[in-house]
Amino acid sequence: MHSDIERIGELADAGERMIERLRRKAFLPESRKGLHVRFGIAEAAQLLGCSTNRIRMAEDDGRLPPPPPSENGRRPGYTVEELLNMRRVLGASPARAPLDVPAIIAVQNFKGGVGKSTVTTHLAHYFAVQGYRVLVVDCDSQATTTTLFGFNPHFNITREETLYPYLSIDPTQADLLYAVKKTPWPNVDLIPSNLELFDVEYELAAAGADGGSILATRFRKLKAGLSDLARDYDVVILDPPPALGTISLAVMQAANALLVPLAATTPDFCSTVQFLSMMDQVLHQLTEAGIEVQYDFVRLICSKFDGNDPSHAMVRQIMEQAFGPALLPVPILESAEISHAAMRMMTIYELDRPIGTARTHKRCKANLDEALGQVEALVRRNWGRVAPASEEDVVNEAA
Ligand SMILES: Nc1ncnc2c1ncn2[C@@H]1O[C@H](COP(=O)(O)OP(=O)(O)OP(=O)(O)O)[C@@H](O)[C@H]1O
Ligand SMILES: [Mg+2]
Repeated sequence: MHSDIERIGELADAGERMIERLRRKAFLPESRKGLHVRFGIAEAAQLLGCSTNRIRMAEDDGRLPPPPPSENGRRPGYTVEELLNMRRVLGASPARAPLDVPAIIAVQNFKGGVGKSTVTTHLAHYFAVQGYRVLVVDCDSQATTTTLFGFNPHFNITREETLYPYLSIDPTQADLLYAVKKTPWPNVDLIPSNLELFDVEYELAAAGADGGSILATRFRKLKAGLSDLARDYDVVILDPPPALGTISLAVMQAANALLVPLAATTPDFCSTVQFLSMMDQVLHQLTEAGIEVQYDFVRLICSKFDGNDPSHAMVRQIMEQAFGPALLPVPILESAEISHAAMRMMTIYELDRPIGTARTHKRCKANLDEALGQVEALVRRNWGRVAPASEEDVVNEAA
């Protein structure tokens, strides 16, 4: 009988070659050399919570470097790096106080394709634009988040650069510092992943009777390792795999907040209910085993809401009734801009010009700012520090 088995390998190879081609294209010097986004002075002032005048004054008196020279009568705007410097000089950093606990957010749902990696990467870049120090940890061997950061997990990342050497049965690393990679964003770091991270799951299955104690050791290790790293960040975002395995469990335990993305569809709703009930059972078992889990917040977010689809509105209503205030009121809208950006291995926050129409782009970004701002507010809720400089301070200072 004819068998098509050999075809599988060929398909994989052809696919890999295509991914590499896409990645190279995304990284052609003219299409992506580091980070291109720029912010006009009005936008910068709005982000800092001050007046444009305050920025201009600081540029005039030398506290800030002179504004970027204009080209063809238009100023190119400030880079993320310049924006961060501006925050430092003008005392408008949103960073937590040393005693405030950094947020370690698991973006989790056992259902696949609900938008975990999309939410993780956009949340990371949203926080970065707002001036926070961010660490993203790709805990999924599918490595979508790693790809969205512009790495090819197959070619650019080795197992030794992932969580593996730290979580392996025979660990070769005692802390997680080795795994932290710089990204094009000055204030976002990444621990990448690749397919070989899945070995962590195999090892446990092979460990037989010792499985329980190995599992417990890994839980403690991931939590300890991430808590250590988190000292240098305001927000740590974890993208776990869409399944109940060692790594997912360790992530749940290492996090101090849980964000559950889901689309407004019946299958996503049903799977998410199952996920929540499974989480409930697992968390009880962990607590009974003396492994402590605590979340500052647990929220669900609708991750690809299509306002023109009546079925989405209906399912959303069902979700509101079931989850009440745990469902964040502002959903992330489904947008071609997001999927097009993903094709270029980018988030909306990395685009220096719209892919679709200017209107689509603007609407998409405004929606993301609002939706992800809800998560920022939850993170800040537990920080006991003063808000970034307000207009009032500026007036008083100038007086
Ligand atoms: N708001 C959105 N608008 C348009 N497309 C979206 C949106 N959110 C997610 N997508 C698309 O949906 C697909 C699945 O998203 P994503 O990879 O983030 O899900 P995931 O939960 O991480 O999947 P997995 O379970 O495989 O890890 C991707 O193609 C992504 O580009
Ligand atoms: Mg994913």
